[in-house]
Amino acid sequence: MAGQREVHEQVERRTIGAGGLAVGAVGLGCMPMSWAYSGSRQRGDESVRTVHRALDVGCDLLDTADMYGPFTNELLLGRVLRERRRDAFVSTKVGLLVGEQHVVANGRPGYVRRACDASLRRLQTDVIDLYQLHRADPEVPVEETWGAMADLVRAGKVRALGLCAVGARGGRRSGAGLYDTTLRQLQRVQQVFPVSAIQAELSVWSPEALRALLPWCEARGVGFLAAMPLGNGFLTGTLTPGEGFERDDVRARHPRFTAEMMAANQPIVAGLRRVARRHGEHVTPAQVALAWVLAQGRQVIALPGTKREHWAAQNAAAAGLRLTEQDLAEVSRLPAAQGSWD
Ligand SMILES: NC(=O)c1ccc[n+]([C@@H]2O[C@H](COP(=O)([O-])OP(=O)(O)OC[C@H]3O[C@@H](n4cnc5c(N)ncnc54)[C@H](OP(=O)(O)O)[C@@H]3O)[C@@H](O)[C@H]2O)c1
Repeated sequence: MAGQREVHEQVERRTIGAGGLAVGAVGLGCMPMSWAYSGSRQRGDESVRTVHRALDVGCDLLDTADMYGPFTNELLLGRVLRERRRDAFVSTKVGLLVGEQHVVANGRPGYVRRACDASLRRLQTDVIDLYQLHRADPEVPVEETWGAMADLVRAGKVRALGLCAVGARGGRRSGAGLYDTTLRQLQRVQQVFPVSAIQAELSVWSPEALRALLPWCEARGVGFLAAMPLGNGFLTGTLTPGEGFERDDVRARHPRFTAEMMAANQPIVAGLRRVARRHGEHVTPAQVALAWVLAQGRQVIALPGTKREHWAAQNAAAAGLRLTEQDLAEVSRLPAAQGSWD
């Protein structure tokens, strides 16, 4: 059992939020272990090994949500946390309920309190380091939901609060105003209790948060957790256009993952590969994609998702890859991604 810490040899530490929370610059997105990707439910033991490996190399921010599975992702993390709680920074989410065919928001204070207790039980811990509002409930003023979350901090069940942004999936992927709703929510909740982190999509092919959300974080010392930093796997260059996805894989319905759009977006992968080669034959496009995310600001934490041990190790090593000005300029000149939800 990988119980001992080799820790922090590879992964730089960064500080986020007013409370100065220190975490590895690369975390581990745990969603693919239980949700959204092909084969998610068949790799329990490998997933557990992957979490151990991430902790061993200093990727201590483990990002999950009660809705992943639903519930099974937190249960899986609980198997690791009961042995290694002190090695991990536990980041989970509340506010979305999964039905047979749909997902609905629930931001009622009583629900938030019950959901937190249930997450604590599944995670086999007595405190959540970062509790994030997954989606605001249109039926409940966001201040009420956030107030209930703040009470959980006062009760010692949670250490800090974060908010997930609705961006890409809210439509108008590249338009101005993509994150206006989020910015309004942030202003409102900030009056109630400090925001320690925002979580939103950020990657080479989805850079919109850079202009809209990152300046807000920078001005306030708020952490930015970059979700989907590998473009749901596309930016790694390991996916073949036209191979298709199983029905339970989000990419089967994602407009950028049709055979046509995957082919059209290959120049982006080719660009990442060119930069990777300059840094050595073992450097991968995935690592360049992550290093680019990390280069966007000191308060950015990348959350690559994987259920495979070797990819977790490879992603951790990206924290040590320093892109040059030339590399960054080259990546910024890559063509904009084609394929949108609009
Ligand atoms: N707040 C939100 O609304 C929200 C939404 C989406 C995601 N998230 C968070 O962000 C995290 C990351 O997003 P994501 O997992 O959807 O997307 P991602 O990190 O962009 O990509 C994940 C995919 O890339 C593959 N992969 C990972 N490392 C690789 C490597 N080195 N080489 C080749 N392939 C690699 C994974 O494969 P395997 O699955 O086979 O390992 C998986 O299919 C999630 O786990 C979740 O914690 C949050």
